[in-house]
Amino acid sequence: MAKPKTQFVCQNCGTVHNRWAGKCDGCGEWNTIVEEDPMGGIGSGPGKVPKKGRAVTLTTLSGEIEEAPRVHTGISELDRATGGGFVRGSVVLIGGDPGIGKSTLLMQAAAALSRRKHRIIYVSGEEAVAQVRLRAQRLGAADSDVLLAAETNVEDILATLAEDKRPDLVIIDSIQTLWSDTADSAPGTVTQVRTGVQAMIRFAKQTGAAMVLVGHVTKEGQIAGPRVVEHMVDAVLYFEGDRGHHYRILRTVKNRFGPTDEIGVFEMSDMGLREVSNPSELFLGERNAKSPGAAVFAGMEGTRPVLVEVQALVAPTSLGTPRRAVVGWDSSRLAMILAVLEAHCGVRLGQHDVYLNIAGGYRISEPAADMAIASALVSSLAGVPLPADFVFFGEISLSGAVRPVSQTAQRLKEAEKLGFSGAMLPASSAELPKGSKGRWTEIEDLPDLVSRIAGSAKKLGKQAEDTFEDD
Ligand code: TYD
Ligand code: MG
Repeated sequence: MAKPKTQFVCQNCGTVHNRWAGKCDGCGEWNTIVEEDPMGGIGSGPGKVPKKGRAVTLTTLSGEIEEAPRVHTGISELDRATGGGFVRGSVVLIGGDPGIGKSTLLMQAAAALSRRKHRIIYVSGEEAVAQVRLRAQRLGAADSDVLLAAETNVEDILATLAEDKRPDLVIIDSIQTLWSDTADSAPGTVTQVRTGVQAMIRFAKQTGAAMVLVGHVTKEGQIAGPRVVEHMVDAVLYFEGDRGHHYRILRTVKNRFGPTDEIGVFEMSDMGLREVSNPSELFLGERNAKSPGAAVFAGMEGTRPVLVEVQALVAPTSLGTPRRAVVGWDSSRLAMILAVLEAHCGVRLGQHDVYLNIAGGYRISEPAADMAIASALVSSLAGVPLPADFVFFGEISLSGAVRPVSQTAQRLKEAEKLGFSGAMLPASSAELPKGSKGRWTEIEDLPDLVSRIAGSAKKLGKQAEDTFEDD
């Protein structure tokens, strides 16, 4: 029999190539292509004859719907991110950078669930039993009834899980350590990771146990990232955060049983992760409202409003090409706002370095932050602080117009709750909260915003004359 041909698979995106190459055509990454055996995987191999298909009964869209049975952890930020707890028979993937706190979070969840009399099995492929015990001690979870195993072989794990009573929740930490006898490639390759995850998904569907898989996000592509299995699982959550900061955000990017765009916010302490039920207070905690260049953005994360400070520093450059440095925001979006400021508002920034930072390591992806960012930039350039009790939101278009954004009322309500009494928001925003005493200033376009801020600079006698032209 002819030797089966091997194939070359990119460990980053899973693209299959006929021969090895330094760079993947699919995702453009370098050094991510690894030789793998295409015949590997559960149920494959010589001697397997495809069985004859069985007809399934077709049904209609209307009919009875059962509410997905869920396992609540009691950790409300985690339950919020999963859409109300782990669903029985479903598989959740939790991805994140190494060391961000995935194992910590799941150990806490496991302990909380086992205290609620659920049968929880924690399979650690990365740490030895003693290490996991040590962590459990630090987290005050050592006295819970979580069942622990340190194992990486897929067949052994499945045999262990199938023994005894069905578990309510199984945690596999991590998918990159899984290896199966049926696949020929090395652990951590796309084939091994996919085979392992497939086997776990099959177990969850067959037994009705909820399953949580941990996946490390890798930049180098040495091991397969969680992306290669995202499509197979029921829900995908990413645990994000900045190593230099204490808080962590659990973000839902896919959920077959609940809403996406929800976040759970945690704070890392020496006793593990602590829930943060009011993120705005956390993000505004160290605020210095009197300095120029700081604006508070009233943002939304799913159904929850989040207030966060945007900080800008605009300073004359000493370089031929001025610097643009951004943390926590899209740099091409910043370039766009700078271009609109130059083209429509006569604000010259060609001779200025621009630094932009979102307070506390938070990441904003909403275009609604445009107005807060433009305000912070203009405020820093003019050297005049923005009103301390104002929030800002609104999307800016290339024409300089300020576009309305969704959920205006919720943003304003949160701002009022936290003691802000005014807002600069897009004109013709529909749903302003009724009966509120806030000073809601509607901004038509970007020149209007700039002239308001520059106007207050004039009043203070601080106008930077060479940068603001009179049009
Ligand atoms: P860990 O959960 O092991 O990360 P992951 O599984 O995502 O790789 O978390 C590791 C980091 O968390 C480590 O740098 C130490 C820190 N940590 C605390 O600060 N407090 C704690 O109570 C624990 C258990 C960990
Ligand atoms: Mg870990």
